Amino acid sequence: MKALVIGGTSGLGRALAAEFIAAGWDTAVTGLRAETVMAFTAAFPAARAVQLDLAAPGAMPATASLLDFLGGADAVVVCAGLYAENSGADWAVEEKAIAVNATGCAAALNAAYSHFKKRGSGRLACITSIGGVRGNARCPAYNAAKAFLFNYLEGLRQNAAAAGLPITVTNLVPAYVGDGAGCGRQLLEAVLKGRRTVYLPGYWRLLAALYRNLPDLLHEKMFRWHYLLLKPFMRKAPRWQGKA
Ligand SMILES: NC(=O)c1ccc[n+]([C@@H]2O[C@H](COP(=O)([O-])OP(=O)(O)OC[C@H]3O[C@@H](n4cnc5c(N)ncnc54)[C@H](OP(=O)(O)O)[C@@H]3O)[C@@H](O)[C@H]2O)c1
Repeated sequence: MKALVIGGTSGLGRALAAEFIAAGWDTAVTGLRAETVMAFTAAFPAARAVQLDLAAPGAMPATASLLDFLGGADAVVVCAGLYAENSGADWAVEEKAIAVNATGCAAALNAAYSHFKKRGSGRLACITSIGGVRGNARCPAYNAAKAFLFNYLEGLRQNAAAAGLPITVTNLVPAYVGDGAGCGRQLLEAVLKGRRTVYLPGYWRLLAALYRNLPDLLHEKMFRWHYLLLKPFMRKAPRWQGKA
């Protein structure tokens, strides 16, 4: 079985790729930087690692070509992401966050979904974020891009169901998990079981439901105190307090 982990050279993607490899999958990963790609190859000589920038033009055909080059895949997981702290809502930062987290990730998902449609089956997954549940003043475009992915994945899932194809589409929703240590196994199980939406840690499903239904007025006020309130539920400090 073959797996492609896009954004698999660091953090959560790397933790997931390591689990695919440990489970005996023929695994390939992509990373943004040459040094992380080289480091991955050094750590996992049996796996393939290549550079791919989802914010560059032509990310969809580039992902499609990569899948052809690999001779196809049974599972594709898009883990790439760019957290952009941007309380000032500066457009240059917002634009980059949208380019990577919305347009770029959708391009990779689209290429993988088209690949699975042609072969008639597959496991597609994407790491989004708890940020996709509501807007946030610290990173408006990051959260909005993640919300876009929630919706896009749902659309692809319904598209597969309408076509009667056994293509699973999994939304992996982490919340403050830091470098992803200890998350790889959970991510792999969610993909292999074809789960629809998985929160990491799992108790965030309940918190997300509460947060989604919070009245707008309370959500506006919450900026001042919601990190304090949620702190007991955070495995790692939020990224704006340093690299989480
Ligand atoms: N960690 C958390 O607590 C947390 C919480 C919520 C959501 N998330 C989401 O989970 C995913 C992984 O997060 P992480 O913390 O593990 O991040 P990370 O350690 O920064 O890893 C991000 C991965 O994406 C790659 N990447 C970055 N920019 C890219 C681009 N323009 N094109 C293609 N690949 C690119 C990186 O390549 P390099 O290795 O070369 O840098 C790396 O492989 C992201 O989507 C993030 O938004 C994480």
